[in-house]
Amino acid sequence: MTVPFGREFREKYFAFEDGVVELNHGSYGAAPTQVIEAQMEHIKQKHAFPNRYLRYELFDISKKCRQAISTTVDADYHDLVFTPNATTAVNAVLRSHPWQMGDKIAYLTTIYGACMNTLKFLEEQQDVRLIPVEIDVNASPAENEAALRAVLHEHPDTKLAFLDTVSSMPAIVLPWENMVKICRDRGVLSFVDGAHGVGLLPISLRQARPDYFTSNIHKWMYGTTSCAVLYVDPSRQRQVASLPISAIYVSPSQELSPEESKKVLGNSFAYVATADYSAMQTTIELLKFREEVCGGDQAILDYQNNLAKKASELVCKELNTTDIDNSGTPMAMFTVRFPLQLDPKLHLDFIDFAHDKFANKYKTFIPLATYNDELFARFSASIYLDLEDFKSGVWAVKQVLKDWEVAAKHPKELLEPKLDAMPLGLPC
Ligand SMILES: Cc1ncc(COP(=O)(O)O)c(C=O)c1O
Repeated sequence: MTVPFGREFREKYFAFEDGVVELNHGSYGAAPTQVIEAQMEHIKQKHAFPNRYLRYELFDISKKCRQAISTTVDADYHDLVFTPNATTAVNAVLRSHPWQMGDKIAYLTTIYGACMNTLKFLEEQQDVRLIPVEIDVNASPAENEAALRAVLHEHPDTKLAFLDTVSSMPAIVLPWENMVKICRDRGVLSFVDGAHGVGLLPISLRQARPDYFTSNIHKWMYGTTSCAVLYVDPSRQRQVASLPISAIYVSPSQELSPEESKKVLGNSFAYVATADYSAMQTTIELLKFREEVCGGDQAILDYQNNLAKKASELVCKELNTTDIDNSGTPMAMFTVRFPLQLDPKLHLDFIDFAHDKFANKYKTFIPLATYNDELFARFSASIYLDLEDFKSGVWAVKQVLKDWEVAAKHPKELLEPKLDAMPLGLPC
């Protein structure tokens, strides 16, 4: 590695707008310029001869990219496909499942909003029953596992459990591998939402053996938008149709040889209507960037985890607060209790106010959320940040708190966003 991770790395390999300090990699990710440039080349390749690209080249490209990413998640490439994002993967699987009226789906209460909406859709349209597993973000992993066990004990006819590797807001590492085992031992299918998975935590699907797993590539792998990977256990593959169902559809009842069956999932997701496949196609360049420029997956994980630990200490000290971290598993995102005593009825107003100020006035973003009436802030320690950037983040939080105080007295004036640049590396 020629340039160390942090600000110098950001300036050399990423293309952020001047003055922007992206402290929220967790929501949308950000890709290095050379990967975005590779993506542009792939778009040109498609437009140079669309019929050859979409009818022939795409299938070979998809296979090579699935083979490439299979090492990262430790799975057979036949069991992996690409989707534009984790949400599409979740929808493809859950909306393909042959639900019967009254079938039960257990879900963790930390579930991501879009996934919860998909479950609500199934509840309304397919008459499934949703069973919450109350996750206490202050509890130990063993206590949260016990909560899942208790729900499955109470509802032994549960068909599927919807789990997270790392929840979105607040961000905590869930004991997903143990939870998958708990489900398997009881004959309950498991879907693991690993949107924050690959690149954030070491993942071995061969060891964990979930029925379904998805992970975004455009978040913690630093891939370009939009790209996610979906894993489907071989015994479930004939049931899962792409979203939308497109030109390549093989009915689950059609008899195929084992060899033919093995190819159905890969082929049906390789071409899903006329669409942009360029992000998926950058997998090879992305893995090369991680290996050759970053020094490999372990070097990335070490930097992210180490920075998150130091940054969390700094943020907690400067904002006089505490973080939530009961998992004992290091990761790049940390969540702190937001240092503002506020009536929970005003939490959403404050979140709207603060988000607007972060993005439009202070050129940064620190996502806030409320969970069980507590207000939290999440930070992401990515390879293009260093400790100085978190000092800027602390400064921005303090500014927003001052703005909120003033807004209470002069609401109109403060609702006008002003695009002041955030001073970098200020001592807080
Ligand atoms: C836990 C979790 N699941 C799913 C998603 C959805 O990801 P995407 O918008 O890439 O589909 C997110 C996005 O942040 C997430 O945090």
